[in-house]
Amino acid sequence: MPPHRPHDDARRIAAALRARRPVTDAELDALLPPELRARSAEYWTPVAVATTAAGWLTDHGATRLLDVGAGAGKFATIAAALGELRVVGIERRAHLVDAARSLARSLGVAAQATFVVGDLDAVRLDEHDALYLYNPFSEGFYPRGSRLDDTVDVGPSRAQADIDRIERALSSLAPGVRLVTYRGYGGRVPDSYELLHTADFDGGRLRCWQQGRTRGGGWFLEEDAQGRS
Ligand SMILES: C[S@@+](CC[C@H](N)C(=O)[O-])C[C@H]1O[C@@H](n2cnc3c(N)ncnc32)[C@H](O)[C@@H]1O
Repeated sequence: MPPHRPHDDARRIAAALRARRPVTDAELDALLPPELRARSAEYWTPVAVATTAAGWLTDHGATRLLDVGAGAGKFATIAAALGELRVVGIERRAHLVDAARSLARSLGVAAQATFVVGDLDAVRLDEHDALYLYNPFSEGFYPRGSRLDDTVDVGPSRAQADIDRIERALSSLAPGVRLVTYRGYGGRVPDSYELLHTADFDGGRLRCWQQGRTRGGGWFLEEDAQGRS
């Protein structure tokens, strides 16, 4: 029997994603280091959610996607591997950015999925025509031992400040910008946005919004992972 080569697995997975053939979470997660694989069900976007989100975005003409809180790069690399999107992931944990870059190289999408170490100060949201938010700030509301890890200083006041900042930024983005949320993002969506798609997965609700031209001053509420609204 020929030796098992992880590199071949990654190439096969990338080809399957490009061809829109099914890929399981176990197959994709096997490309991550073991300690990050173990956090996947809780923290990284499932393959079916990522392919649905990326499909909606490309159907609506998005080309430049920002993943706010990119983690180990699971969502961003899948979205890039489908072939139509260039994805930038912003992530404040440097060791996750290392893992994300490595995953992108394995899948052959290092040019299409790039990663920046930093927080919301490190990117301009208005340079992208689509944003993805998988409830990135919620861990700040968890008790210390339940967070992703202790390598960054997060807490409720920082998390709320980030949520407020995204809320304000969403109001000022250009008409046509798409927003995809998975399990909400902890904040509200301005009523200038139109809800284009909703899909329910075992892990939670995926929504796709598009910024419009008229603002009534109101908001849509999205529940976050804790069920707040
Ligand atoms: C739920 S995970 C989602 C990961 C990735 N988007 C995915 O779906 O596979 C959220 C990530 O956001 C990161 N994060 C949270 N707040 C952030 C901030 N203000 N700036 C940058 N990254 C942040 C966390 O470190 C964590 O890795």
